[in-house]
Order: sequence, then C-alpha cells, then structure tokens
Amino acid sequence: MDKLIIEGGVRLQGTIDVNGSKNAALPILFATILLDGTARLENVPDLRDIHTTLHLLDVLGCACACAAHRAEIRPGQLHPEAPYDLVKTMRASVLCLGPLLARIGQARVALPGGCAIGARPVDQHLKGLELMGAHFELAEGYIMGSCRRLHGAHVTFDMPTVGGTENLLMAAVLAEGETLLENAAREPEVVDLARFLRACGAQIEGEGSSSIRIRGVSSLHGTTYSIMPDRIEAGTFLAAAGITGGDLLLPNCPYEELEAVILKLTGMGMEISRTPEGVRARCDRPLRGIDVKTQPYPGFPTDMQAQIMALMCLAEGASMVEESIFENRFMHVQELARMGADVRISGHTAMVRGVDHLIGAPVMASDLRASASLVLAGLAARGTTQVQRIYHLDRGYERIEDKLGAVGARIRRAPENA
Ligand code: EPZ
Repeated sequence: MDKLIIEGGVRLQGTIDVNGSKNAALPILFATILLDGTARLENVPDLRDIHTTLHLLDVLGCACACAAHRAEIRPGQLHPEAPYDLVKTMRASVLCLGPLLARIGQARVALPGGCAIGARPVDQHLKGLELMGAHFELAEGYIMGSCRRLHGAHVTFDMPTVGGTENLLMAAVLAEGETLLENAAREPEVVDLARFLRACGAQIEGEGSSSIRIRGVSSLHGTTYSIMPDRIEAGTFLAAAGITGGDLLLPNCPYEELEAVILKLTGMGMEISRTPEGVRARCDRPLRGIDVKTQPYPGFPTDMQAQIMALMCLAEGASMVEESIFENRFMHVQELARMGADVRISGHTAMVRGVDHLIGAPVMASDLRASASLVLAGLAARGTTQVQRIYHLDRGYERIEDKLGAVGARIRRAPENA
C-alpha cells in the first residue's frame, strides 16, 4: 500500500487538466453489455475502478481493450455471473444487473454490501426491475435475477437514486414497450449515459429531469463516444486553489454542472470565472465560513462535502455541513481533527469552527472523497502530512500527486512503510 507525503504551505499556480468522469464512465462501460456491436470510448479515466470494471466485463464475456484513455468493448457470448471477489471491491458492479437481464434474461450478482460511507442498499434497483418483469432470489450473498423478456413499466423511485436510475435506464432500452422513470436522478452522469445509449440507437427522452421516458428497441448498435469531464475531480481542484490561496486554470472544467459548488466556493471568498482558456479559480483573501447541505443534483453534491469541509476548517467563522444523502460520510472529520481542525458532529450535521492553521500529521484515508479532503488539508497545513491507504484515492483520481506537483505542490508517493 502507498501513502502520499505532502509538505504544506505552497500557493498552487498553473494549469490542471481534468480527466473523464469516473461516475459517467462506469455506467457507460456496463451499458456496452447491451450492444450488438463495438463501443469505442474516449476520454476514459485511468482509474482502479475502471480497470475493475473492464475485468468484470471480461469475466461476463465481453472482449475489452484499453490504452491511453480509450477503451474498446465488444460483447461476445455473455455469462450471467458477477463474482464476489470483484463486486466486493466496487459497489458500482451492481450496474451489470439491468444490462444482463435485458440481454440474456439472467444475472447472478454478488450483493455489493455496505461501504465506509453507509449501508447503500439496492432495493430501488430490484423493485424497479421487478416491475419490468424480473424475478429475484437472494442466496449465499448473491442476487439471482431472471426474466423472459423485460417489459416497460411505470417506476417511481422512493428517492432520486443515481445507480437505480442508471440500472433501470439500461434495462428499459431493450425492454418491450415503454418505461417511465419518475423521481429519477438528474445527475450529469445519468445524462451522459442516456446520450451514449441514444448514440447506440436507444429511444430516450427527459434525461436530466426527474421523469425519463424510454421506448424499448429490439437491438442497439455500437458507437464511438467521448466521456464527459469529471465534475468532482474538477471541483476538488477548484477547492485546492481555495485552500492554498492559489490561482489555477482548469481548461476542461465543466462549469454548469458545478454551479452549486461554485456558488459555495465564491460565497467563501474565492474568485471563479469562465475564460476562453477554461475555468480560472483564485483565492487571494481569507476564506469565510458558509453553510452547506448536500442534495441530489442540481443541489450541492455529496461527493464534494469532504473537500469543502477542509476549506471550512481554515475559514474565518463557523460553517455548518449537513450530509443528507449518506448516513456515515463524516469519516474525514476525525482525521482532520488530528491536524488541528475544530469540527463537532451531531447526527447528520457537522459544525466547523475555522482555526488559524492546520498542523501536518500522519492521517488515514477511509474512502475516496475523505482521502481527497485530507490531501487538500495537507496542502495547506504547516509541516508534513502523510496520507495513508491512498488506494482509496486511486479509485477516483488519476495521478493526483503528478497533477498537484505540476502546479507547485510538494507532494510525493511512497510505500506505506517508507
Ligand atoms: C452514486 O452512487 C455515485 N457513484 C456516488 O459517488 C455518489 O456519492 C452517489 O451516486 C450520490 O450522488 C457512482 O456513480 C459510481 P445513490 P449510488 O443510489 O448510485 C440510497 C464517489 O465518491 N439508496 O444515488 O450508489 C442510498 O443509500 C461515489 O464517486 C437506497 O436506499 O448512490 C443513498 O442514501 C461515492 N436504495 C441514496 O439513496 C437504493 O436502491 C443515494 O444513493 C439505492 C440508493
């Protein structure tokens, strides 16, 4: 296992390129199971979860090749089983459920289990697929699904679930008849999936709204498609400019998809502007505290909660953070406290009081976005911060030490026992 060693106190200056979106690439990769043909994907991020997904697609019977941010997938003779040893490392594996049922009428997917940030059940996925004609049994830690041919249904989610919307969208494009998804997730990654499926011949309308209508077709052809930029990676780098008092240019930063984040960061005192070269983020004044409540899109994304909390730790005044999506997404708090942060948790709310400075310390990453929060804190802390177990970070950030190092950060990767 590796760690990152960070010497804090450098104002970051320069340009950082944003990679393709992990959370758009994952469902799109699973959607290739649906195709009678080859998908050629571009702007695919080089991340652990992407490699895990390509390995799983290979196990399921797809021919996969990938190099230099491209991937080529062609489904062959499909097998129904997604094994536990792969699924346990990546919850998004449950996204093979809808495509497998749509293509071969059966699926055996290991229950993903919980993770550091919460129980993360898949009841909404199963309920919607049952309305489309699937039957499920749970045995030995596996979800076993079967169906003759899926048929259209009217599905209303109990909450706007991103994965649930994506699974049902993929199931519906080959189902018999029309499907209406209500209270659907509006996230940009859902929209990117819908655009990919439409490029393959699917009939979808309403993506990006809470009502999506799909008319099933008999088959889908291959296509070439470029994945959207990663708004959470981009938001993390905007936060890096803020916490270091720096000046960063992000040429391919998605601006509209980050409006809720940009509103809060500018409310804290950052200057974030659109220029012909990209989005520029500067901070040349003390940050001010602000209140944040995480919400489904277009609200403030839960995937940016840990990152903005790092900025709040050094802001003037107090900040309130309410995490309304996941029940245990404050794992970064005790690690930030080891660096001198003043954060008090009460249920789903954290009260942050800004301190004059953070002190570098050895800290432990617990999940993907908590790791990013600790890196941000280390960039601003006095002294040396060692972020351990950064395999969490590698799931969602490509070579973050190279990207931050290129704009001045004193950061390096080392073996954990170094
Ligand atoms: C996706 O997870 C993202 N992952 C998460 O990003 C992100 O935090 C989350 O959406 C919310 O935006 C990917 O896209 C691969 P949900 P997902 O279903 O689909 C509850 C990251 O850091 N729920 O929208 O699993 C659930 O417990 C990751 O990149 C049910 O109760 O999230 C949660 O409280 C972390 N039953 C809420 O809904 C269900 O059947 C939202 O979950 C499904 C969800």
